[in-house]
Amino acid sequence: MRVLGIETSCDETAAAVVERDEEGRGHILSNVVYSQISEHAEFGGVVPEIAARAHLSILDKLIAAALAEARMSLGDVDAIAVTAGPGLIGGLITGMMTAKALAAASGKPYFAINHLEGHALTPRLTAGIAFPYLLLLVSGGHTQFVEVAGLADYTRLATTIDDALGEAFDKTAKLLALGYPGGPQVEAQAKKGNPARFDFPRPLTSKGETNFSFSGLKTAVRQAAKKLEPLTDQDVADICASFQAAIVDVLCDRTRKMIALFEDRNPGAAGHLVLAGGVAANQEIRSSLEAIVAEAGWTLDAPPLALCTDNAAMIAWAGLERMDKFPPSPFELAPRSRWPLDEVSDAVVGSGRRGPKA
Ligand code: KG4
Ligand code: ZN
Repeated sequence: MRVLGIETSCDETAAAVVERDEEGRGHILSNVVYSQISEHAEFGGVVPEIAARAHLSILDKLIAAALAEARMSLGDVDAIAVTAGPGLIGGLITGMMTAKALAAASGKPYFAINHLEGHALTPRLTAGIAFPYLLLLVSGGHTQFVEVAGLADYTRLATTIDDALGEAFDKTAKLLALGYPGGPQVEAQAKKGNPARFDFPRPLTSKGETNFSFSGLKTAVRQAAKKLEPLTDQDVADICASFQAAIVDVLCDRTRKMIALFEDRNPGAAGHLVLAGGVAANQEIRSSLEAIVAEAGWTLDAPPLALCTDNAAMIAWAGLERMDKFPPSPFELAPRSRWPLDEVSDAVVGSGRRGPKA
């Protein structure tokens, strides 16, 4: 079975062809990503209207490139999978309309995929990991621990009550005039800085707390920077190092708690912590989590960097997993800017569901 995947939920336009063989293993035949970063950089963040237009102007060429790289035509794929949410609505509409048009013209079924499910299932594509496992999704829009018990069987165990982790990196970078996206810049600066110079808060790190909060940390960074103005290069590096140290401490604390909770809920299950989302590219975070996971006798499974960040191979793979068990999506289906993976858990800001602050 082969699926053409389409991803347009944020600032990456992507198309991919993925094959699932008879043993259930995935093979990426092509994976084309066009990053719009340069189009948004001067604004210090993603501008939804620019993103939607950029998707529209390039998506058809990208799909053609993905099919060509896989050495096939639309007639050779068995289905089309497309991100239907959560994300920026203009981009989602572009991807959904394109997928529906291709499906209608070719007579192939199409599958509307939750972007977070794409991230959640990626380790099954890259490493054939079996259910159940614990997922830590850390991106520009999401920060959550999810128990992945099976296909379409997800329980959110913890989430952020305000900013997403990638957003915290991006805001810190913006404050220090480091450019967008901020994560890689903050990480690079942190390498040159002193992580002990500023004692930034570790929000919600009390005993019973499992959720995340990053807005207090952001405020502390802003205040520290204000006090020092004008900042020297060393000040910037020290702020970044101290900020990243606070983040690492918070992540390690929550990961320990989540491992214990997962073990309670899944006695006897193999311990796999799967990392996904753009922040998973951070080497300091990866190596710290590796140590925590090893303490518990677990393994850390982080997909290759290109598959941690947004891509269409993960959407195609989710389509391949779904086509065995679920009917295709109806043409009437509309994209959803908010769409939690776990529809049952309470709404919390940042969880993918419209919460109190929406
Ligand atoms: O998953 P992703 O590509 O897009 C979505 O948000 O869905 O994640 C992008 C986020 C940005 O906030 C970016 O600053 C962050 O991931 N990021 C990093 C690093 N590389 C990317 N954060 C920390 N350290 C990094 N090395
Ligand atoms: Zn993503």
